[in-house]
Amino acid sequence: MAEYELIDHEFDVVVVGAGGAGLRATLGMAEQGFNTACITKVFPTRSHTVAAQGGIAASLQNMGPDSWQWHMYDTVKGSDWLGDNDAMEYLAREAPAAIYELEHYGVPFSRTNEGKIYQRPFGGHMTEFGDGPPVQRTCAAADRTGHAILHTLYGQSVKNDAQFFIEYFALDLIMGENGECQGVIAWKLDDGTLHRFRAKLVVLATGGYGRAYFSATSAHTCTGDGNGMVARAGLPLQDMEFVQFHPTGIYGAGVLITEGARGEGGYLTNSEGERFMERYAPNAKDLASRDVVSRCMTLEIREGRGVGPKKDHIYLHLDHLDPKVLHERLPGITESAKIFAGVDLTREPIPVLPTVHYNMGGIPANYHGEVLNPTADDPNRIVPGLMAVGEAACASVHGANRLGSNSLTDLVVFGRAAALRAGKVLDKTTPVPGINKAQDEKILARFDRLRNANGSQPTAKLRDEMQRTMQADAAVFRTEASLKNGVAAMSEIYSRLTDVKVTDRSLIWNSDLVETLELENLMACAMATVVSAEARHESRGAHAHEDFPNRDDVEWRKHTLAKVDIASGKVDLSYRPVIVDPLTPQAEGGIDLKKIAPKARVY
Ligand code: FUM
Repeated sequence: MAEYELIDHEFDVVVVGAGGAGLRATLGMAEQGFNTACITKVFPTRSHTVAAQGGIAASLQNMGPDSWQWHMYDTVKGSDWLGDNDAMEYLAREAPAAIYELEHYGVPFSRTNEGKIYQRPFGGHMTEFGDGPPVQRTCAAADRTGHAILHTLYGQSVKNDAQFFIEYFALDLIMGENGECQGVIAWKLDDGTLHRFRAKLVVLATGGYGRAYFSATSAHTCTGDGNGMVARAGLPLQDMEFVQFHPTGIYGAGVLITEGARGEGGYLTNSEGERFMERYAPNAKDLASRDVVSRCMTLEIREGRGVGPKKDHIYLHLDHLDPKVLHERLPGITESAKIFAGVDLTREPIPVLPTVHYNMGGIPANYHGEVLNPTADDPNRIVPGLMAVGEAACASVHGANRLGSNSLTDLVVFGRAAALRAGKVLDKTTPVPGINKAQDEKILARFDRLRNANGSQPTAKLRDEMQRTMQADAAVFRTEASLKNGVAAMSEIYSRLTDVKVTDRSLIWNSDLVETLELENLMACAMATVVSAEARHESRGAHAHEDFPNRDDVEWRKHTLAKVDIASGKVDLSYRPVIVDPLTPQAEGGIDLKKIAPKARVY
């Protein structure tokens, strides 16, 4: 492609994405002396982690008894027994060390009177292997925890000489003939130049794809860019049917009201003023896990007990709390409620509705962050030179449902794990390998095709249709009919991608082209999601299938692998076993296996 000149760069490690996971990986790599680049489409401190509010889970025991085994048990139960036990143990066991590192890097956590890190209750985090009351496990910096972590990690990464390539849009992975990753090609948005990053290791930390849905707490930048690149490389996506709805998005705006609000004593009511969660979850009540609370809210609305003129939402009360608590612990949502709902939460309830918040599925990875390309013979086969961490990845540490505040833990624990693994498997002294030039042509041809796309379907129209279809057909509750309809509708919308229309042909700040590239990424994610959901004939975690209302561990305790054929949008499904062995044997202090055996999930 003569028109497109590539500017070359060589690094030991290239991290794509500068949210919590990307920055923690970047910092860990740079600290070890790896020549490290971080490519990001937005300024690092504008990555979506900045919006994480309530906190980061770790069994520090600052507010009462706790243990990593209790944390692991809650995560296993929260995952509805779909998570991999090795990864879930790793998360719970490593979380305290990862938090103390953050503290030492300078994260300004809220403090107890004794000066320890403040911890609040969060949904699904309990004492005594689920038999006791909620535990205070979620470490918080008021309700701006992600903001505090992101700024600290960025500062530390710069201090350790990581090189940032800011406002670069990663187009595609350069894959070698033997299936290894050799680098990535990216477009510099402010001057239109194209860049080829050759690397020994590429780490994808591109976040989730919440924007495949119409109403999401996710930033508009959460477009599954890493997932799209992986799908175009012919690799599978895992467990994409599991999409988390956060119980408390502001009605109409979708803006997040942290679960920390319920952790500090907030509660939900229906049109009869009833605290209905007491009926559904007598022990955990409003602090049951998110999938459970979202379903209960949806049921209340369906049964005519929603609030407001259309009876189509629920109230969240904080008006009974001491204003001092609101000021100290929840200042951010006090502002959000005023701006986005026009509510003074010291006096009135906030109108809320379950809103798309998180993708449990993503790029299959092991607990070191290494990307997997499973085969029937080797379900744990590694893709050389490629890692994925954070929401982009599926380790699988959240299984069918993530617990609130385990996401920030995931970001830093697995960002750190990726760096630790790189320290073991990468050699700083060897040259960066050569690359497969045929891939350059392919990547640039796609870029050129979209830049000059002259069809009849504007990007915004296709995106709107996709978002409305996903919202309607792959929602909190799903049925055979809704999912079949969703597959048919999404297939039809996908087929019109070949007729997309881009109006702006320039290379500089071409937001029309950026949104079209993002749309292709979102579409691959949406297809994988709806097809995987249609095939899973059971209910588990966030996948609540009304025609198959029970969990079926015999048939369905397995991970879905979805390969998207990019040309046609067709999705090929296969399955991979759940990893049931934890890392530490019980005799050496590991969790009691009987404790984590599947059972009915009640809160
Ligand atoms: O509710 C919240 O603050 C969100 C936290 C999370 O998704 O982990």
